[in-house]
Amino acid sequence: MLKTGFIGAGTTGTALAVRLSQKGWPVVAVFSRTLSSAQKLAKRVPNCQPYHTAQELADVAEMVFITTPDDVIAQVCSEVHWHRGQSVLHCSGAHSVDILEPAKRLGAAVGSFHPLQTFADVDQAIANVPGSTFALEAEEPLLSTLKELAHLLNGNWVKLGSGDKVLYHAAAVFACNYLVTLVKLALDLWKDFGVSSKEATRALLPLLRGTLNNIDNIGLPDCLTGPVARGDLGTIKRHLDALESRSPSLLTTYKELGLQTIPIALAKARSMNRRQKK
Ligand SMILES: NC(=O)c1ccc[n+]([C@@H]2O[C@H](COP(=O)([O-])OP(=O)(O)OC[C@H]3O[C@@H](n4cnc5c(N)ncnc54)[C@H](OP(=O)(O)O)[C@@H]3O)[C@@H](O)[C@H]2O)c1
Repeated sequence: MLKTGFIGAGTTGTALAVRLSQKGWPVVAVFSRTLSSAQKLAKRVPNCQPYHTAQELADVAEMVFITTPDDVIAQVCSEVHWHRGQSVLHCSGAHSVDILEPAKRLGAAVGSFHPLQTFADVDQAIANVPGSTFALEAEEPLLSTLKELAHLLNGNWVKLGSGDKVLYHAAAVFACNYLVTLVKLALDLWKDFGVSSKEATRALLPLLRGTLNNIDNIGLPDCLTGPVARGDLGTIKRHLDALESRSPSLLTTYKELGLQTIPIALAKARSMNRRQKK
């Protein structure tokens, strides 16, 4: 097991440090832009010391996670004098390992370890880590170590090839961030007929959970319900008319999502036909 340090004591760094340490992985060092953040992380992790500089941390840790915001990973990496035998990782979903080139040039092994998860605050992040999938980029033997870490965190892993990372991250934006956007659009429509966002959220959450359960239990395309799946053109026409008169800014989005839904509905119809013939 490699003595491990974290540069960047935010939500992701703290969640990974806490969970790895709970599994017996030696998380021994933390450095952050502010000492108070490093001290906060160190308090949650037994035998973890806060350091005053990234270099001091890199001098004691065999494996270093750079868990700063994406935009400063390259700069942080370039300011440390890494050495052969050391492993340097980042957790960005959008960047490949290429931004760790300065560490590679100095002989360190480099990799990325991206938790495919949403971390809104530290406690929620710690709770959400187990069971997540981790997107890995690294060469052996570091790749095997990262698989071991994913396994320790009760998670799965997927290995990405070079050049796949940006598309992979765009997919995560669709499934996570734009789901939030879609809920916000639904809440706006509820506001239009006089229901507060709080009440509307309470009403929509069971629908959202039911949808996720159907995706999980039934899978695509059969989990699709609603007017496009049923071919209810009259209902769709009435939606379009209502949006045009009461919420025209949503019309383009509604139409585009409808168009993207048609192939799913057709695939569901084919799948049902196949089942009926059996
Ligand atoms: N949040 C998510 O949902 C999520 C999910 C998967 C992956 N990630 C990835 O995880 C990484 C961290 O994201 P995050 O959301 O955890 O960010 P975050 O909560 O904002 O934490 C970033 C931490 O980096 C520290 N920092 C900033 N500049 C620094 C510097 N120059 N040197 C040292 N420390 C510095 C900040 O320190 P101070 O507190 O000391 O100011 C902050 O605590 C990113 O690469 C992100 O893409 C995030």
